[in-house]
Amino acid sequence: MGLKFDFNNMFDFSVREHGVSQQDIDEILPQARKAAAHLKKIIADPRARVNLGLEWATLFQQDKEEIAKIQKLGVQISKKYENVVFLGIGGSYLGLKAAQDALCAPYYNEFKPLRKKSPRIYLEGNNLDPDTLQVLLNNLLPKKTFVIIISKSGETTEPKAAFMLVEAWLKKGVGKKYGRQILAITDPQSGALRAKVEREQKKDALSFRAFPILKGVGGRFSEFNMGLMHLAIVGVNINELFSGVKEMFNRCSQDDILKNPAYMYALLHTILYHKKAKSLAILMPFSGTLKSTADWYVQLLAESLGKKYHRKIEVGVDGAENWLADRTSLFSKGRTPISAAGTNDLHSIQQNNVEGEDNKVITFIRVEQFRTDLKIPGKGDLLSEKSFSSLMHLAQEATEWALVCEGRPNCTIIMPEVSAYNWGALLFFLELATAFEGELLNVNAFDQPGVEGYKNYMYYKLGKPGIPQAITEEIKNKPLIKNPEYIL
Ligand code: PA5
Repeated sequence: MGLKFDFNNMFDFSVREHGVSQQDIDEILPQARKAAAHLKKIIADPRARVNLGLEWATLFQQDKEEIAKIQKLGVQISKKYENVVFLGIGGSYLGLKAAQDALCAPYYNEFKPLRKKSPRIYLEGNNLDPDTLQVLLNNLLPKKTFVIIISKSGETTEPKAAFMLVEAWLKKGVGKKYGRQILAITDPQSGALRAKVEREQKKDALSFRAFPILKGVGGRFSEFNMGLMHLAIVGVNINELFSGVKEMFNRCSQDDILKNPAYMYALLHTILYHKKAKSLAILMPFSGTLKSTADWYVQLLAESLGKKYHRKIEVGVDGAENWLADRTSLFSKGRTPISAAGTNDLHSIQQNNVEGEDNKVITFIRVEQFRTDLKIPGKGDLLSEKSFSSLMHLAQEATEWALVCEGRPNCTIIMPEVSAYNWGALLFFLELATAFEGELLNVNAFDQPGVEGYKNYMYYKLGKPGIPQAITEEIKNKPLIKNPEYIL
């Protein structure tokens, strides 16, 4: 049995005037049908998928031989090394973290039996905080550590800086053949990391082995591509994962929008955003192991849909589309995602959810069957003989009830259990819902121009050559104002 989606509390019959009405649905349906048809056309066209950044939609159909190669190397690494350090940020980190927490045992690194002979996993290069990397390098043995650098562009400052340090550490600790303990997952052709791979492999073919992040797969949509090596190393069944994705793909290929879970999710959120000013999207799994999946979704939604301009579609003579930012049509919108976790955050953000500004939609993830359960001992207490899972379910139901009473819209994704199958389906569902919402809003969900500003500023201050003059002028002409009067 796969995921189920309970949208009842999104409607006016549950949350009164704060919810979606039948009229709202009727009004948006023609536009939604057009958006669905457009998305379907692109997903069915291999060239458009690659050119427009939607190749992620068919990753579950990847070449079986490539997957077998990844699995083979993953098992080799797993058998040989005690530690694997992954370096990456954004899309090249969040999917790994989400998978590690959802699909491996909690406290995986701490207890050997839980790892089932797989290595300890460390995720670094996702920050410029020197303290965490320092501790790791001071405590790991280079000879027992394999390093995987993941960067599609091969240029991102955080993983690049971490890699330069880790490479020097490996070289010092391992010697000449240190490159055999490095794997790069990057663009198949371009970028500094790909160039380095090629240089190193000319010297030693077993050094700096590499796997590609495929063309048309953007960072935040790349878990089923760049994340596979991590899954192979920790022993997650990739076939099972892809079966779950495939099942969700089939369910969401359904043309009837009202029966298509991903499209309904996007449609209802869009209505609530535009008509009821619900600009905050809180994803709140009632499961500790899915909190990082909510963090992964924060990036997905924020980078995909928080855009300054609408999309302009140019169609070439061959019928191929090109998507550009339409600088004549300001959007400057996008729901703001927040990750939370039940029951932890019932003692924190929940107060604001129920009584604070009425600008949120909360999506719960309810796990029906946990991997284990705990029965509370004793007799006579309210909690005696109750299981943790029953209390968790009750807390989730109670949270829904409290929100509905206050007219606060919410919906629930029901997950039978946290398995590779269901987790794959969940990620794909959220990816497709995001792509569809991009269509509804008419923004390009597959670029992130807003991230360039800080990068340009850093590159300028670091003295990187080749920064366009318009950008350097802007940085020079708009210095940050640091009036001492306001620095207390
Ligand atoms: O979604 C995206 O494309 C970005 O968030 C990237 O994942 C992030 O910036 C890291 O990029 P890269 O993998 O090129 O180092």
